[in-house]
Formats: sequence, structure tokens, C-alpha cells
Amino acid sequence: MKKKILSLMLCGMMAMGVMAGCGSAGKKSADKKSGSKDGTITVGFSQVGAESDWRTANTKSMKETFSEANGYKLIFDDAQQKQENQITAIRNFIQQDVDYIVLAPVTETGWDTVLKEAKDAGIPVIIVDRMVDVSDDSLYTAWVGSDFYAEGSKACEWLNAYATAKGVSGKDLHIVDIQGTIGASAQIGRTKGMDEAVKAYGWDLLEQQTGEFTQAKGQEVMESVLKQHDNINVVYCENDNEAFGAIDALTAAGKKVGGDIANGEVMVMSFDSTNAGLKDVLDKKITLNTECNPLHGPRVEEIIKKLEAGDKVDKLQYVDEAMFAVDDTVKSVKAKMSAGGEKDFDITVVTDDVISKRAY
Ligand code: AHR
Repeated sequence: MKKKILSLMLCGMMAMGVMAGCGSAGKKSADKKSGSKDGTITVGFSQVGAESDWRTANTKSMKETFSEANGYKLIFDDAQQKQENQITAIRNFIQQDVDYIVLAPVTETGWDTVLKEAKDAGIPVIIVDRMVDVSDDSLYTAWVGSDFYAEGSKACEWLNAYATAKGVSGKDLHIVDIQGTIGASAQIGRTKGMDEAVKAYGWDLLEQQTGEFTQAKGQEVMESVLKQHDNINVVYCENDNEAFGAIDALTAAGKKVGGDIANGEVMVMSFDSTNAGLKDVLDKKITLNTECNPLHGPRVEEIIKKLEAGDKVDKLQYVDEAMFAVDDTVKSVKAKMSAGGEKDFDITVVTDDVISKRAY
């Protein structure tokens, strides 16, 4: 614990930047050393569920990293998209006295009590993927995941540039936003990107409804909004699986899916850039796919290794992510970042070669 306090003091003195925020250091505590006699480290991982291809890739990455062969005992819990199941799982991990708790939270709020219980038990908690919104950020040791607001900003800046290049004015973009699970960081950031762009560019936002990050719900929402609006020309899906469902609904309704919005096509935009999502870009069903990288296993392991070695870890670690489009109408965009400021992002045109080189 002394190591942790010293490190926090050093961290404050060094006044580190926001992108790699000040971190925690040291083993779980001076009197509670990680690992069994044979050095195995026990990790309890509370996963959101199995709602999407992205989630499947994320689970695979975690299971492959925290394998017995790599010196870990992984206790994996699938919460089926329910926060109460995640809270129960964390309490079980505490009872089992695991060395580390890793939490992929379904939504941002509602974690203070259970994370305090983990802290009181001296078990470091690493948050992965979505964030938690807690009153005291010492309740978790570190977070690693995506800049979801930057993802939303990137996608909307691309849409603005694409529509401008095609001669379509902002007021003629009639948009449906199929949102993710309400209250999840991925939904909050991507929806915020859309809301800001609607204000800035005068877009016509027809509907915002949750598709819960699933294909079935994405299809259901699309079927329902198609009955209410006959002028939809952009569908902003907050993940790939919602896009697959929306494309099925659009096709079944006789709409032509594609980027030629000036000539009656309905453009589908998506997030994640899974293999299936990029295949849909290659097939011109999805016009832009903004990456959300799920390969967090090695990133979480790096944090644990540093903590085991008594080293300081960054409190917040944002992952670098790309953008993939059907063509090079837009070559790059300038997007807003969560930490403030803007950054340039190049657009990659999807080819078979691009897809074959990707791991998920
Ligand atoms: O939190 C990441 C999001 O959750 C991904 O975009 C989505 O596919 C997943 O279910």
C-alpha cells in the first residue's frame, strides 16, 4: 500500500497528461499478495453478455489471454446484459478472493457500492471497454477501452464531408439513429457525436431508438421506423449487429441500401468494423464503418503485469482506432476527442486484402 501512495504522489508531481491519466501502482496490498503457491493469478471477469460479434471477439481475446497456459485461472461470468447479474458476479469474485476483478460494465452508473466492497476486500478492479461513472475514482485501478465520443464525432464528420461532396445539403439528410444499450458508454459517446452534428449541420434527425446492440432489435426498430417515415436516407447504427438487422429490414421493405443518397439509396453507417461488418462494406451495404477494437485481453494483461511488478499504470488508456469506407470520396476527417482537442483520422477503403489482414 505504501508503494501505491508513493506512486500516486510521484504521479501528481509529474502532472501527467489526460490521455494517459495518472495511475495506480503496486501489488494489491502489502499484506495480500497475488497468486497461489504455484504463481497462478486468479482473475474474475464479469462480461456484459454475448449480444454482438464484437462481444464474441472480446470474450475470445480475454479467454485466450487469461489461459492456464499463460499462468492464470479465469473465472468468467456472462451477465446477459443485466447489471444485477454483474453485481452478483463481482460479489462472488470477492467471496472467492480472486487476485483481480475485471469488469466490462453494461452501463456507466450504479457501481459505487459493489466497487467499494471490492476495494474494502483489497482486490484491484480493472474496467475494460465501457466506462463506469463513480463518485470516487479510486474505486477502480485502471480503465482501458475506446474513445466512444471520438468514434461518434469521426463518423458524423465523415457523413458531413461525404454529403457535401455529393451535393446533398444538411437539411436533406433524413436520419434514423439506432442507438446502443441506453446508458452504455458506447451509446452515450456515439449518440453525442450525432446530436452535436445535427445541431452543427442542420440535419433532419427523424428518430433515435435503442436497438440494444443486437441484430434482432436493430431489425425490429428499422421495421417500425420504416412504417412511420418514407424519406429516410441515412441509418446510423451504433454497432455492426444493429446494421445487419437494419439492412435486412430495409431490403425486405424494397429499399436499395448504399451510398448513393442523391439517387434514392439508403445509406447505412455502422461501428465496430468486425469482419462481417467490413464484408458488408465491401458489398456496399454499409458505406462507413468506424472501428471499435475488441482485442482487450493483452491490454488488461499488461496492466496486471505492471501491478504485479509494483509499477505504476495509467488510469485511463484509450485505444487507437481506424475508419473504413466503401470508397475514397472522403480521405480523412478531423474529429473531437473525449480528452479535448481534435485529431485527424485517415479513411481506409475496404478491400479483400484489408479484411484478410484483420484479426476479428
Ligand atoms: O462497448 C462496445 C460495444 O458493445 C460494441 O460496439 C458493441 O458491438 C458491443 O456490444
